[in-house]
Amino acid sequence: MPGEANVAKAGLEGIVAAQSRISDVNGDEGKLIYAGYDIHDLAEHSTFEEVIYLLWHGALPSRTALEELKHQLSNETALPTPIQVLISSIPKSANPMDMLRTVVSALSFYDPDLDDMSPDANLRKAIRLTARFPTIVTTFQRVRNGLQPVEPRKDLSIAGNFLFTLRGQEPDETSTRTMDVALILHADHELNASTFAARVTTATLSDIYSAIVSAIGTLKGPLHGGANEGVIKNLLEIGSVDNIEPWVKKALAEKKKIMGFGHRVYHTEDPRATHLREMSRQLGERTGEKNWYEMSRKMEEVMMREKRLNPNVDFYSASTYYALGIPTDLFTPIFACSRISGWTAHVLEQYKNNRLIRPRTDYIGPKYPQQVLPIEQR
Ligand code: COA
Repeated sequence: MPGEANVAKAGLEGIVAAQSRISDVNGDEGKLIYAGYDIHDLAEHSTFEEVIYLLWHGALPSRTALEELKHQLSNETALPTPIQVLISSIPKSANPMDMLRTVVSALSFYDPDLDDMSPDANLRKAIRLTARFPTIVTTFQRVRNGLQPVEPRKDLSIAGNFLFTLRGQEPDETSTRTMDVALILHADHELNASTFAARVTTATLSDIYSAIVSAIGTLKGPLHGGANEGVIKNLLEIGSVDNIEPWVKKALAEKKKIMGFGHRVYHTEDPRATHLREMSRQLGERTGEKNWYEMSRKMEEVMMREKRLNPNVDFYSASTYYALGIPTDLFTPIFACSRISGWTAHVLEQYKNNRLIRPRTDYIGPKYPQQVLPIEQR
């Protein structure tokens, strides 16, 4: 309304826009908490499936509850035939995040619970989405390379199945555990941009598929999940440890944002980076390809010295996934395969206590009133 005072907060920085029981970030202490549990404890002592349960139900599962969830997830990994056909018809050159966005949207047509908005039905949809994300990503990867999709195995975890259906070979224990921890670390991060997008869509009482499509489109951006692909592109371009310092200094002088550094909330080390750094180091030693880890360390040192910026979750996930032999354009889709657990938890929470999310703008356009002139006189 004209004359009403609205002062905009750029990027909604520091604005508390929702109450949530799901996760909490303490930016000063560098802590990430999922439903009361420190991410460091979860990374060391839990599995991605346990974390999914924690995010959805607010408590770690009993053995029976965990077995039931695993059973439900493994029953839902298969894709409906028309979706398999759709994936085969998507151009091989498509960005996998665009593919994922399109396929998830189309999946809604085949969900028998689509119009049932009861909590039970919404949880079933959350299970289906979480189970199917990895299948969609690895099916596309195989099909675009002229290979047959591999059916997920019921005895493997989500992490194990991701690697199995990607490569067609059973992964070793270290690779599976590395992937499992990466999935745990990316699962939720309170009101990050894509989760906010999902909650905004949910708050109109739209369906869960629409909310998740909003979230995928938001995660894709290079300032959010797209950064991990940006990190590896930079490392590949730079090529060696010796080139890091001049490259970083030049990029900073040109006022470029360097992917994988900085964070809106953390003013200290991102606790997720602590684990990913170590995983990247260990994998580098194991494969004998230490270059990517060593280049990353050097870049971290230069960025701290020049800009006092810490690496974020996307920085060491890049060299970790690269060491696992994962194609670079699947890095952000892997982030989505994990974050679907957090997105759906937030969607379920939003439905529980919903109010339309509708902020205001600080209007800075032409002064009111303007006169509408006949078109010939404008
Ligand atoms: N490289 C170089 N400079 C950076 C930077 C980066 N990655 N991140 C922040 N900065 C600088 C900005 O240029 C700015 O400097 P200035 O005050 O001299 O102009 C200052 O730090 C504040 O940055 P700003 O972009 O306002 O912070 P933000 O809170 O809006 O943005 C991010 C947070 C994450 C979007 C930002 O740090 C960024 O773009 N990082 C790279 C992308 C990335 O890794 N995203 C994944 C996040 S998990």
